[in-house]
Amino acid sequence: MKILVTGGAGYIGSHAVKELVKEHEVIVYDNLELGNKEFVDEKAIFIQGDLSDTKKLNELFEEHKIEIVMHFANYALVGESFENPSKYFENNLVNGFNLLDVMIKNNVNKIIFSSSCAVYGIPKEIPIIEKHTLNPINSYGESKMVFERVLRYYDTAYNLKSISLRYFNVAGASLDNSIGEKHKDETHLIPIVLDVALNKRDNIKIFGEDYDTKDGTCIRDFVHVVDIAKAHLDALNYLGKNMQTKSYNIGTGQGYSVKEVIDLCRQITKKEINVVIDKKREGDPPMLVADPKRFKEEVGWKEQFNINEMIEHAWNWHQKIN
Ligand code: UFG
Repeated sequence: MKILVTGGAGYIGSHAVKELVKEHEVIVYDNLELGNKEFVDEKAIFIQGDLSDTKKLNELFEEHKIEIVMHFANYALVGESFENPSKYFENNLVNGFNLLDVMIKNNVNKIIFSSSCAVYGIPKEIPIIEKHTLNPINSYGESKMVFERVLRYYDTAYNLKSISLRYFNVAGASLDNSIGEKHKDETHLIPIVLDVALNKRDNIKIFGEDYDTKDGTCIRDFVHVVDIAKAHLDALNYLGKNMQTKSYNIGTGQGYSVKEVIDLCRQITKKEINVVIDKKREGDPPMLVADPKRFKEEVGWKEQFNINEMIEHAWNWHQKIN
């Protein structure tokens, strides 16, 4: 199949491309604002471009006869989305509509969208099922929720079928250690803790230790980036067979606190990791743990990796790029 992957040079997109090229023809479209061109598998065709560039997108669809789109190209930092909501709505929504309209024009009727557990806001029940109320508490989550809803309207109006994958906290690196997480301004927990282990930072600041959780720190459901990549292959096959618009949680169903993650990093790296307790970060829900049953039962996906393996693989990668 001919698949267009937007954001295919980013952390999650590049891991998906690495899996997809084993079975499909892949065209990556990325503006390289945040992505790394060297992460794009050489079996994929790479085109540098922006989602606002309708002309370029149209030419690409016409030339490559795209059959399905995987849409990763979104901004994804909760903190930044507080300070700059227009950036999030502009790219994640306006540019997203642009992509959808080019798809409709070119008779492409299937899309897999990178959504997020941020659509739930502060959950009322754990583990979170897909039917849980959507009540995002930041413009990032809002942009994901609205785009999912737009996809449903596009199904009704234009017969566009979609699967929205609501990722929980993605971690780890490729098994051959060729690609991994590399952000210009890192904000995520595991990469920052590993930077401390590598003496690139003095300490990890824990954002709040008086949450109503077992040890007072936030709890997250971590899922390996390779498992996420494989979820896209499974979703692709499922969408081809079922042609129904759906949303699914992609997590493992296991929650780990920030302190537990730091302890696991200490064990795996065998390094000292200094901790400083800091104030809560705005927009952090205390606990986000998926109920991934729907995706497992309907689509047949299952995670292969646990949190130890995620940290081990991330550690291998961090030592390599240091
Ligand atoms: N944390 C710290 N110190 C740090 C960094 C993070 O204590 O230096 C804590 C956060 O407060 C949070 C947990 O570690 O409790 C995880 O934080 P991350 O920044 O690694 O990840 P988030 O949970 O904020 O974000 C992830 C995805 C987003 C998604 C969001 C849903 O990266 O794309 O989950 O809330 F939207």
